[in-house]
Amino acid sequence: MKSFLKVDDQITIHLPKLEFAEEIFEIISNQQLYLGEWLPWVERTKSVEYLRAFLKDAARFNQGGQKLTTYVLYDGKIAGSVSFVKIDKEMRTAELGYWLREELQGKGIMTKACQRLIDYNFRTKAINRIEIKVATNNGKSIKIPERMGFLHEGTLRQAAFFYNQYFDMELFSLLKDDWLKMKNE
Ligand SMILES: CC(C)(COP(=O)(O)OP(=O)(O)OC[C@H]1O[C@@H](n2cnc3c(N)ncnc32)[C@H](O)[C@@H]1OP(=O)(O)O)[C@@H](O)C(=O)NCCC(=O)NCCS
Repeated sequence: MKSFLKVDDQITIHLPKLEFAEEIFEIISNQQLYLGEWLPWVERTKSVEYLRAFLKDAARFNQGGQKLTTYVLYDGKIAGSVSFVKIDKEMRTAELGYWLREELQGKGIMTKACQRLIDYNFRTKAINRIEIKVATNNGKSIKIPERMGFLHEGTLRQAAFFYNQYFDMELFSLLKDDWLKMKNE
């Protein structure tokens, strides 16, 4: 299967395809407790049909440039997703989001996939700033922007509301200049 971006021999990044629906749905429905802790859309994902509709919308938003949803495959199987969940073309900013299936944590898959998508976008698209917003208590996720050299800009107080409660979010950002400097370019 042709990939959108290759990360290494095991990790590839793919645009949404309807044929992924069953595999993604199986992960989401089997890992509800783990994924749902920080991703409120997990409990809305109740059927393969819902996921098919999501994938169709995602392809449309990708084409329109409002978002960039992609899926990460590890050894040819869906491992998770790394996406620009919001793109503001006028301001040249994008917000990165990600999830990984539980048993594939701890191998650096998501950090490597994020780095590949970030590099591709800074080099080929008019995006100057990438943000990551992570709930203050989501320690595993906070390590990802930290590991990639994002700047911690502060805490967004009660910036998210799900499961009937407010969550503070940590705001991280990376500029194109920061990225090229890190690459010595
Ligand atoms: C957030 C999430 C993607 C983090 O997964 P992860 O496996 O820790 O992240 P990575 O794939 O980047 O792997 C990093 C881990 O692999 C280790 N690792 C091994 N080889 C590595 C390599 N070559 N490069 C980087 N890290 C490597 C790191 O040390 C780190 O482990 P540690 O946390 O014990 O220090 C995952 O926990 C998840 O999907 N959670 C649920 C959904 C969620 O919270 N999404 C984010 C919402 S903001």
